[in-house]
Amino acid sequence: MPPTMPSEDKLVVPNTLHQLLGCPVTAGEKGCTEGLEIVEPPVDESTMVETEEHMARLMEGYLQHLQERSAYHLGYPLNLDHDFSPLAPFLNISLNNAGDPFAKVNSSVHSRQFEVAVLHWFADLWEVQRDQYWGYITTGGTEGNLYGLLAGRELFPSGILYTSYDSHYSVFKAAKMYRVKCIRIATTVSGEMNYADLKYRLLQNTSSPAIINANIGTTFKGAIDDIDQIISTLEKCGFQNRYYIHCDGALSGMMMPFMKQAPKVSFKKPIGSISLSGHKFLGCPMPCGVVITRLEHAQILSTYVEYIAAKDSTITGSRNGHAPIFLWYTLSKKGYKGLSREVQICLENAQYLEILLKQIGVSASCNALSTTVVFERPVDEEFVGRWQLACEGNLAHIVVMPNVTFEKLTTFSEELAEKKRCWYQEKGFGIPCLAVDIGHENCFCSAHAV
Ligand SMILES: Cc1ncc(COP(=O)(O)O)c(C=O)c1O
Repeated sequence: MPPTMPSEDKLVVPNTLHQLLGCPVTAGEKGCTEGLEIVEPPVDESTMVETEEHMARLMEGYLQHLQERSAYHLGYPLNLDHDFSPLAPFLNISLNNAGDPFAKVNSSVHSRQFEVAVLHWFADLWEVQRDQYWGYITTGGTEGNLYGLLAGRELFPSGILYTSYDSHYSVFKAAKMYRVKCIRIATTVSGEMNYADLKYRLLQNTSSPAIINANIGTTFKGAIDDIDQIISTLEKCGFQNRYYIHCDGALSGMMMPFMKQAPKVSFKKPIGSISLSGHKFLGCPMPCGVVITRLEHAQILSTYVEYIAAKDSTITGSRNGHAPIFLWYTLSKKGYKGLSREVQICLENAQYLEILLKQIGVSASCNALSTTVVFERPVDEEFVGRWQLACEGNLAHIVVMPNVTFEKLTTFSEELAEKKRCWYQEKGFGIPCLAVDIGHENCFCSAHAV
């Protein structure tokens, strides 16, 4: 069907933009994003000027909207504290790092030099020699999990995947995609893997090798699975040389190395791969991630493809060439010292938030090596939306990132205290019991409050 010409009043169609520009809003279907309409540009020049002015206003309005909403973003692990404006000129260059980052390619319009630098940085951090590892910059933590778990599956085609109930959904997706049997392991109240249950499940399946997904920070509670405990459980159950461990470090994989008290995530231990997201703690403005594995495992996965005259070794084909530059820039600007300082501030602010919430009578808890504070789900969905909180069952959480300041947390808890009075005293809602979710010592319901 040929495109139709827009009428004057169709130049600004979308509801959200009507709202942004102070125009009336028409309700969309519940739960659905209202899409912007793309209209054909006008043919005559004078209308074209108007259209361009209109588009500029619309973009300006949308930018302001994003800036305003970013200030109230507490529930998801994105570091919004960054200034990448010196990198803006790169957005006018098409960069594609398709294929193996270490391979020599004919095209010069890529950022492999930056990608390899970033990968070497992570190889050093996770203690694997530069000639003993392989990795690449992914689209995010999900792709890192897909890659790491595929490596485990290729190494042990008849292996069973063990992962805790609190794992990210991408791990279960990987099991489904690769048709690998997946056994879910119970967790403790903190969200950490229950090693007694792991042992029990392993002993029920001693004839199949084990592929383990270890959470280096679970999605909801930020709990860390103990790699040393997992390894000793595997060995005690007779799985010597018949296991592969992938470490899903989406958020905390970037923070743990800078926490003095934290156990080490390191290739000096018998693990197979580690992945993380680059847009979480590092604050890359586009989704991206890093995955690193041992060279010997990567070789099993790569095959030569004549069309690209190179080895195909990554999950996706074309790959974002801008992300490595942004990651390189951040790592070079902050260094170990800067990252370590940011991690310490986030830990302190998370502890501060837990105290603030408890002071206003809100059930709350925060794991020792985490900046994720879980607390009772606010009754009012509008409040949840205003602060962009992530919720699961009776719980909500705030992930304290470098942009989530002391002042912001104070404002949040003051607002919550005000709302809470309204929900529980005026409207008569009952305070839920969260003893099972976060422990009775953190629960402020009528049965557990002291
Ligand atoms: C533990 C964990 N793994 C994996 C992911 C997926 O990461 P991404 O959103 O970068 O694909 C997340 C995202 O929140 C996560 O929390």
